[in-house]
Amino acid sequence: MTVTTDLELEVGPVAHGGFCVARHEGQVVFVRHALPGERVRARVTDRRKGFLRADAVEILLPSPDRVIPPCPFAGPGACGGCDWQHASWDAQRRLKADVLREQLTRLGGLTDFSELPVLVEPLPGGPLSWRTRVQYAAGPDGRAGFHAHRSAGIVPVDRCRIAHPAIQALPVLRESWPPGATIEAVAASSGDTAVVTRASRTGRAEGPVAQVRERAAGHEWTLDATAFWQVHPHAVDAFTTTVVSMLRPAAGERAWDLYGGAGVFAAALAPHCGPITVVEADPRAVASGRRALRDLPNVTFARGDVARVLAANPRWRSVDLVVLDPPRSGAGRPVVAAVTARRPRAVAYVACDPAAFARDVRTFAERGYSLTALRAFDSFPMTQHFETIGLLTPAL
Ligand SMILES: C[S@@+](CC[C@H](N)C(=O)[O-])C[C@H]1O[C@@H](n2cnc3c(N)ncnc32)[C@H](O)[C@@H]1O
Repeated sequence: MTVTTDLELEVGPVAHGGFCVARHEGQVVFVRHALPGERVRARVTDRRKGFLRADAVEILLPSPDRVIPPCPFAGPGACGGCDWQHASWDAQRRLKADVLREQLTRLGGLTDFSELPVLVEPLPGGPLSWRTRVQYAAGPDGRAGFHAHRSAGIVPVDRCRIAHPAIQALPVLRESWPPGATIEAVAASSGDTAVVTRASRTGRAEGPVAQVRERAAGHEWTLDATAFWQVHPHAVDAFTTTVVSMLRPAAGERAWDLYGGAGVFAAALAPHCGPITVVEADPRAVASGRRALRDLPNVTFARGDVARVLAANPRWRSVDLVVLDPPRSGAGRPVVAAVTARRPRAVAYVACDPAAFARDVRTFAERGYSLTALRAFDSFPMTQHFETIGLLTPAL
């Protein structure tokens, strides 16, 4: 028999992970579906050594930032895809800015933000209908839905309100799927759409993977529908423009686009500087990038793990500009060391995880590089995620 425990909590600040922090009789409680400053009745969902997790199930004193979630499937025990449907969009971005500042302070070792305002900017289009890649899961009855938060259980939905309209128009939620399968729906910037099914046991795509065309920076890429591409339709434009304006590339400057995917940053830098080398591990992304950018003689691709490629090419001694766009785990010490050892004039770090970014900022600082400009974008509205772009330059 499960015993439910409800606690009355004064909700404290937001934390990285889509929840707020509260205390109950000295114990830390991570509360979802609440906002800072609220008083809530919260149901304990998980007991761990040193902390509890809980869901706010009744709001006793609401925050002025609270709104009615636009999606009826958001809330305790329901779809786990969104974290902040109950906060106004302005408030969501303030919460994300608080998370970024806290991570840069605690993990990054920064103390003075007077020259470095921490803001999370909106992208065009509003907080709904933006998601161009959606992953559904099929339940035991073959219906597609989404995982509940930290659960294998699947919540069937009528549609996903944050999905791009072209994805909402696909018949995924009306069809029957092999139980346990993952169904990925893609809406590319060209108007192409694709649906890819992955088997439950192997995670492998079933059948040939469709190709989609993506357009950005004056180029068109043809990629596997499952290959990496930014999820928000305005993300590539916003990120490439920011990176170019932060790096201020000049003719003849040598650049690296590390974790470069199919080379979107290289394509944006190519009119301004070069030679540019893209380093990327995924052979499909490299093949697609080579095809898409074949008219750019100043861009070349090196396939492989960034740390290994840099270690294996000590002759790549001089580099002026570096774009670092690692996965959620961050670049890590060996890559930061390999980059800073070449003393580039400027590094633009594109980060999807603020904790990994903050840790790497600290490693850069240990090697004489300071964070001298910072922008952040709400490229994942309604969720806890956002993108940060930081400029690191050699300290004077
Ligand atoms: C966040 S994505 C960025 C891709 C690209 N910059 C873009 O915006 O489209 C990270 C990329 O790093 C690649 N990657 C992950 N780990 C890697 C590694 N150790 N070495 C090289 N590439 C890696 C992934 O395949 C993915 O394409």
